[in-house]
Amino acid sequence: MKASERHMRSYAPEGLMVLRGPGEEYDKGSHWVVGDGHGYAEGLLMKDRDAIHPNTFYVENIIVKELKRGNGHGRALYAMVEEFARNVGAEWIQIDSEPEAVGFWRKMDYTELDRVFYKNKTAMVKKL
Ligand SMILES: CC(C)(COP(=O)(O)OP(=O)(O)OC[C@H]1O[C@@H](n2cnc3c(N)ncnc32)[C@H](O)[C@@H]1OP(=O)(O)O)[C@@H](O)C(=O)NCCC(=O)NCCS
Repeated sequence: MKASERHMRSYAPEGLMVLRGPGEEYDKGSHWVVGDGHGYAEGLLMKDRDAIHPNTFYVENIIVKELKRGNGHGRALYAMVEEFARNVGAEWIQIDSEPEAVGFWRKMDYTELDRVFYKNKTAMVKKL
C-alpha cells in the first residue's frame, strides 16, 4: 500500500487511527493517536538522533479529561499506548514529562534520565 493510500484509511490494523505512516512497514516517524472516551495520547516511532535507544516509541502527550482524572483512566489509556508500541515493534518507550506528571510516569515504571531534551521537562524511559 502506498503512503498516500494509508493516509486515507481511518484505522490501522490494530484498530487505532493512523495520522501519518510512511509505509506498510511502520517506519521511523510513523505517528499515531490512541484514544478512548476519557482521553487520548499521541506517539511516534522516534528518529534515531533523538532516541536514547533504537526502536523507541515516543509518547508525545497523554491527556485525560480534567473532570475524569484520578479514576484510573490515565493508567488504562497508557496500557493501550504501551501495547500499541509493542505491536509496532518498539523495544523502548520514552516521554519528556511535564514536571507535575513525573509521579504518574514513575507509577507507570518509567525511570528518569540525566539528559534534558526540553527545558523544564523530565526525560524518562521504560524498557518494553
Ligand atoms: C497525567 C494524567 C494523564 C493522569 O491521568 P489520571 O486518569 O488522573 O491517572 P490515573 O487515575 O490512571 O492514575 C494512575 C496512577 O498514577 C498516579 N498519578 C496520576 N497522576 C499523577 C501525578 N500528576 N503525579 C503523581 N501521581 C499521579 C495516581 O495516583 C495513580 O496511582 P495508583 O494507581 O497507585 O493509585 C492526567 O492527570 C492528565 O491528563 N494531566 C494533564 C496532562 C498531562 O500532564 N499529561 C502528561 C504529559 S507528560
